[in-house]
Amino acid sequence: MSAAAAPLPRRKDLLDIESLAPEEVVQLLDTARPFKELFTRSVKKVPALRGKSVLMLFYEPSTRTKTSFEIAAKRLSADVTNFAVSTSSVVKGESVLDTVETLQAMKVDYIVVRHSSPGVPNLIARHTRASVVNAGDGHHAHPTQALLDAYTLREVLPDLAGRRVLIVGDILHSRVARSTSRCMHKLGMEIGYFGPGTLVPDTRPDFARGFTSFADALAWKPDVVYLLRLQLERMHASFIPSLREYHTVFGVTPARFRQIRDAGIWVMHPGPVNRGVELVDEVMTYERSLINQQVENGIATRMSVLYSLQPVTEARADDEGAGP
Ligand code: CP
Repeated sequence: MSAAAAPLPRRKDLLDIESLAPEEVVQLLDTARPFKELFTRSVKKVPALRGKSVLMLFYEPSTRTKTSFEIAAKRLSADVTNFAVSTSSVVKGESVLDTVETLQAMKVDYIVVRHSSPGVPNLIARHTRASVVNAGDGHHAHPTQALLDAYTLREVLPDLAGRRVLIVGDILHSRVARSTSRCMHKLGMEIGYFGPGTLVPDTRPDFARGFTSFADALAWKPDVVYLLRLQLERMHASFIPSLREYHTVFGVTPARFRQIRDAGIWVMHPGPVNRGVELVDEVMTYERSLINQQVENGIATRMSVLYSLQPVTEARADDEGAGP
């Protein structure tokens, strides 16, 4: 009889994928499953975080991550506060740390933060007792995107070990590429990178194999093609000659779409999609496009993350239910 595995220690923060052991990744994905099952019931809420407060601190725009974190926190019965950066004292020059110190005084339990500068969530985490979740920091990391991607893939490919994912596009500026490729590697997948020479970092991780043409990359027989958004807002120089040329060489054109469909390859994209650049419209309705499933799974995986973290603010058992 094998000994039962020791429970994994609970973390205060989720800042990146690198610092997670593969078993922790698997545990977060397994924990998400019952949360997703909840969505088919008439009552979609559980009391797991009742009495806890979640602060959404988004210094950069977001549709999917912000909305799904908010829904996730509410389905766990937490109180959610949206910090509106554009109408806050940030516009008067208040620093991130001063903002966090002010909000800390309000005793929040969880801070979900997105910022254009890499490392800001780590900085906040060091200065607060609240659990900090990185919702995307510059080109550094987007760990919950990686988890929802892995969760989505496990729904269609239950055993990911040995499966191949080809990541295509603007890898240099992509926190998604960095986090998702590491997450998939931790789950035993083989990783391929293909993109313009100017948009693939020189320091490609050892586990990622590079390709110089879409034809070679498809000949590698990937199970999944993961298209990245061309991040025009982070490009401060001319990395590609034109969007039309990018589409022709690196996009899923009608001809490449036929190849992908004939080979039964799954397609993923973190969104938002630049239609006509990364892909043609038909890909959005392809039966093996996982793009909408990725969005749907954002809620359950983010519920799993919030549920699994342990803020230092956590009340002692004898405080629970006590009046003021
Ligand atoms: N994938 C992703 O992070 O999307 P949003 O920018 O809309 O949150």
